[in-house]
Amino acid sequence: MHFSSLMDFIIELKREGDVLEIDREIDPYLEISEISNRFIKHQGPALMFKHVKGSKFPVVQNLFASKKRISLALGGASPDEIGNRIREILHQKAPESFTDKVLMFSQLLEAAKFSPKTVDKAPSQEVVLMGDKVNLNDLPIITCWPQDGGPYFTLPQVITEDPETGIRNVGMYRMQKFDATSTGMHWQQHKHGTSHFEKYRKRGEKMPVCVALGGPPALTYVATAPLPENIDEYLFAGFLQKKPVRLIKSITTPLKVPADADFILEGYVDPNEPFHMEGPFGDHTGFYSLENPYPVFHVTAITHKKDAIFPSTLVGIPPMEDYWFGYATERIFLPLTQMIMPEIQDYHMPPEGVFHNLIFVSIHKQYPGHAYKVMQGLWGLGLMMLAKVIVVVDNDVNVQNPSETWWAALNHIDPERDILFTRGPLDDLDHASRLPSFGSKMGIDGTRKTPEEGFTRRWPDKITMSDEVIKKVSTYFPNLLKKIEVSHDKS
Ligand SMILES: Cc1cc2nc3c(=O)[nH]c(=O)nc-3n(C[C@H](O)[C@H](O)[C@H](O)COP(=O)(O)O)c2cc1C
Repeated sequence: MHFSSLMDFIIELKREGDVLEIDREIDPYLEISEISNRFIKHQGPALMFKHVKGSKFPVVQNLFASKKRISLALGGASPDEIGNRIREILHQKAPESFTDKVLMFSQLLEAAKFSPKTVDKAPSQEVVLMGDKVNLNDLPIITCWPQDGGPYFTLPQVITEDPETGIRNVGMYRMQKFDATSTGMHWQQHKHGTSHFEKYRKRGEKMPVCVALGGPPALTYVATAPLPENIDEYLFAGFLQKKPVRLIKSITTPLKVPADADFILEGYVDPNEPFHMEGPFGDHTGFYSLENPYPVFHVTAITHKKDAIFPSTLVGIPPMEDYWFGYATERIFLPLTQMIMPEIQDYHMPPEGVFHNLIFVSIHKQYPGHAYKVMQGLWGLGLMMLAKVIVVVDNDVNVQNPSETWWAALNHIDPERDILFTRGPLDDLDHASRLPSFGSKMGIDGTRKTPEEGFTRRWPDKITMSDEVIKKVSTYFPNLLKKIEVSHDKS
């Protein structure tokens, strides 16, 4: 299923009874947040705030915040099914190196005719505001939490181009509104927006930047996806929705922007301009990220659909909507991770680990020290480099179940022997490390230990009932025992 616009997606959610429309006027200053938070913590529907104080545009939140909704947003298939589509592509050939693999993935997406298509008339340019008509104060930008430094765009697709290769990047980086025509640009140092910015800085040139809001829902997801630098996110969106993304040339910059977005902010970041303090911001860690200097984005034009809808999200103490973007990424990217480390059976980033704090991994252990090889492999793989704690367990543990994973790992460790401390880059949002973005990491080897690893005592079996008794007793009280069989399967 493909949604050609955000409105199409909302109509489908309405059909499914999965969106609540709120008619009374709501303040974008904290009130939208409080309502969204209550609904998300009770696995509620998507929310459409039809009357937002101070703006003529409606706001939507929690659009992607369930397995059903994120799957629908990505074209109807579950993230696991999308992962399997990728797995099939990857199994078509046997590329040699990792670079070959990334290249092949990119080529296959292209060959499959999902490349973006350029059009010359676009809904996202139905209304064009330039010069003194540019006024960010007209938009219903939410202030999320009481100590926030101001209102923030929280679901932006930030579009930039590598000035050397011309390859596009689309990343989701929050933007604090500074005044009517400028915002912060919170691309953190490990992100592709920053690497483009550094190239412009070296060249001493102004950097064109455009920001899309809304549009077909797959476009919002891909901005959050940790794709390798040389894969265009809008090509990937085409692959997900099985339809090319329609682009149009922006009016005041050389960049192309989504033709079906709800809003486009066009503008630039000038590397010669001093950074501006950005923050604080009630972040997805559940704590405020404090003020820090970031580049300034100057808006030269705002274009939008006539009936544009303003999308935003609330992050805070997990679980929040962003968990579902992370969930999609976890499932979609598993086959790519397994291509590099086939011994990985599964991995999981539970919501309380806020992605970068905790990864559970189950492996087919084959040799002494294998768990350490996997930890270090993950710490060398893209944004997994930011993982603070990695727990490795054997393949009979269901890592999707955090209590089962801790149960197995805690039983299997001798802490002094099985915990590895190392150092490396940390997420910019980590507030506990001694230095910003650099600190220690912990790997826990929760696998069964072998004699080759120096373990000479007997290792006990996990308790399970014999199949014969399970089957026999199941026939006595089929309904009651069905439940017990399920929990038996999970152990
Ligand atoms: C709701 C939401 C907000 C985010 N905000 C930021 C942010 O402000 N800065 C940042 O660097 N990454 C942020 N991220 C994470 C990036 O979007 C993510 O790392 C993405 O892969 C970045 O794209 P890139 O790899 O092309 O740079 C956010 C993710 C989500 C889901």
